[in-house]
Amino acid sequence: MSTLVKGLHHITLCPEGAQADIEFFTRVMGQRLVKQTVLMDGSIPIYHFYYGNADADVGSITTSFPYSCTRGRPGSGQVSATSYAIPPDTLSFWAAHFDRFGIEHSGKQERFGAPYIRVRHPAGLLLEVVEDPEDGRRPWTTREIGADVGTRGFFAAVLSVRDVCEQESFLVDALGLRKVGVDGQYHRFEIPGGGPASTIDLHHEPERRGGSWGFGSGTVHHLALNLETDEALLQQKALYEELGFTDASELKDRYYFHSMYVRSPGGILIECTSNVPDGFYQDETFEELGTKLHLPPWYEAQRDAIVAMLEPITVPEENRPKPGSTNVPRAVSGAGSSHTPLSRTSPRFGEGRHQV
Ligand SMILES: [Fe+2]
Repeated sequence: MSTLVKGLHHITLCPEGAQADIEFFTRVMGQRLVKQTVLMDGSIPIYHFYYGNADADVGSITTSFPYSCTRGRPGSGQVSATSYAIPPDTLSFWAAHFDRFGIEHSGKQERFGAPYIRVRHPAGLLLEVVEDPEDGRRPWTTREIGADVGTRGFFAAVLSVRDVCEQESFLVDALGLRKVGVDGQYHRFEIPGGGPASTIDLHHEPERRGGSWGFGSGTVHHLALNLETDEALLQQKALYEELGFTDASELKDRYYFHSMYVRSPGGILIECTSNVPDGFYQDETFEELGTKLHLPPWYEAQRDAIVAMLEPITVPEENRPKPGSTNVPRAVSGAGSSHTPLSRTSPRFGEGRHQV
């Protein structure tokens, strides 16, 4: 039986300040800012930034809610590190690069035979660069980071759990992943079919206190997996329920894709996504990605109230399209069915709730 899960889709974390987050992801991690929009839940306007590789590939997208109004508590039951693939023999470049920016990092580490460096975001979030000779995706480049060293997209998501057993059952039985090895406190799982962005590592930390689950700066909010179609989302929801995970959400309209969420046994919130026609290109071209704030159409009438409550930001010049970099975006496969019932929130912004 083929699995419904095709790969990692995105990882969503909560930094603090918006501009500080943009500076870190674009200049330090060398990511392309591919979308500026807002959180589509709740009545407080919060930015939602998407960062990815040169082609904004599914499986390269880190997203962030700059959530300076509430501090989260890092701990077990969360995604503890977001891993990016880098080419072989580039770790020394990255160590020197992080040093140049004064960014705290681990120096060279090794897991499952692959060298990596763990690096700390200004809000305390952990990211990694892992050498992977197999990953041929196209990196974004900056003044400091060339195509020969740039990140290709996700290598893996690392999840901290106090107990491996139940989370392992969930990954294998509910999501169809395959366990491929153990290295010390790390248990590795692969999404069948291979390819990039198909690895999940459980980090067994039995003594680590549980982290917070809500939005809060300094924590990862959720991990999203690519299922491609609404039909697959409905099948996945039915499978969750068959296995006893009856708290799976309804299908939600996130405009750029559709989503369904469930809380996994280890505490990590898992989102499954399906693609929609034109995806990120519904409201801007490939060359324009990330250069302006876009709201879902059902928020557009409240744009002034929303913008008034957001931190003004500047997109770094080098994160704008470079002359000659034009590329035809790939078609978004597996478009969702327009007949599937979807939920949306329709809050009134700027009334009652405190400003962020
Ligand atoms: Fe998400």
